[in-house]
Amino acid sequence: MKKKIGILTGGGDCPGLNPAIRGCVYSAEKYGYECVGLTDGWKGLVEGTTTPLSREIVEYSIMKGGTMLGTSRTNPYKNEGNVEKCLATFKKLGLHALVAMGGDDTLGVATKLYRDHKLNVVGVPKTMDNDLNVTDYTFGFDTSVTRAVDAAQALQDTGNSHHRVMVLEVMGRHAGWVALYTGIAAAADFVCIPERAIDTADMLKKIRAAHARKRFALVVTSEAAELPEVGEGASKREVDQFGHAILKDRGMGERIAQFIEKQTGIETRHAVIGHMQRGGAPTLFDRMLGTRVGMKAADLVHAGDFGKMAALVNNKYVGVPLESATGELKTVNKEWFDVMEVMF
Ligand code: F6P
Repeated sequence: MKKKIGILTGGGDCPGLNPAIRGCVYSAEKYGYECVGLTDGWKGLVEGTTTPLSREIVEYSIMKGGTMLGTSRTNPYKNEGNVEKCLATFKKLGLHALVAMGGDDTLGVATKLYRDHKLNVVGVPKTMDNDLNVTDYTFGFDTSVTRAVDAAQALQDTGNSHHRVMVLEVMGRHAGWVALYTGIAAAADFVCIPERAIDTADMLKKIRAAHARKRFALVVTSEAAELPEVGEGASKREVDQFGHAILKDRGMGERIAQFIEKQTGIETRHAVIGHMQRGGAPTLFDRMLGTRVGMKAADLVHAGDFGKMAALVNNKYVGVPLESATGELKTVNKEWFDVMEVMF
């Protein structure tokens, strides 16, 4: 009988998940394994809900956004008895190994299941936030930033025509990578990220100068940026099952736009790209990155190298300890602050 690999995707969906599932299934079948999907993240392992997976089923998924397995932000450690249910499902389905695809939260659960229960788990890094340690990039990021850059450029057209300041709010949670890359790639005039206190005098000076020179300006802000002058949003204290603040109603873009208009007297508009930047077809980069880390996960299973995450390190696909990838986020650092000094 063939050994079976279970695959699940947890946390926010992102483009690249389907290519990763596909890469894992293709490689696993080549090794002689059979694959099965657990639906809706850890919820699927808790409740034992599955969906078939095969080379034929995943064949054309490489060009599709989202995740064909469904996802959720379920944390089995949140409710008593759910970890035991996960272990029971693993046994009942006769799984040899589990491949968990997700960000810090999903992989944090995988880390604990490996550490505390010696479960045969392998992780695959995904998140549009690009905030996972020990991997150069996570898939989802490239597609999301590509979409945000398109949006930023569209806003510049209106800014230019109406001589306005345009503010674009992007996702990225507590890491500023999405805002920073969008701002650089779309030639923004200022970028607000959560890792760096915003010097408002500097921001207003740069916006005034940009507007005086070209009669419009573009600001890109992360949803989690902090500007003491504009205060906190309403939902700052709402948290998800992993204890993370839900940032969707924080309204950073709107409040920064109001602040700029009030201080400069220049007409200012804001736009929030929201979940539009998380869906749609993956870029070439995310198709390839997803495929390769998915394949690497199957390699790790085949090698019996559990408790590892498939990672891209210095352009090579390697296995790294799961626990080194979780716990601490990879955020924008000093090197990038220096880049910001030059760019904005
Ligand atoms: O972690 C990915 C992410 O898109 C963040 O950038 C954002 O803050 C969050 O998920 C939104 O989560 P949800 O889709 O649950 O609203």
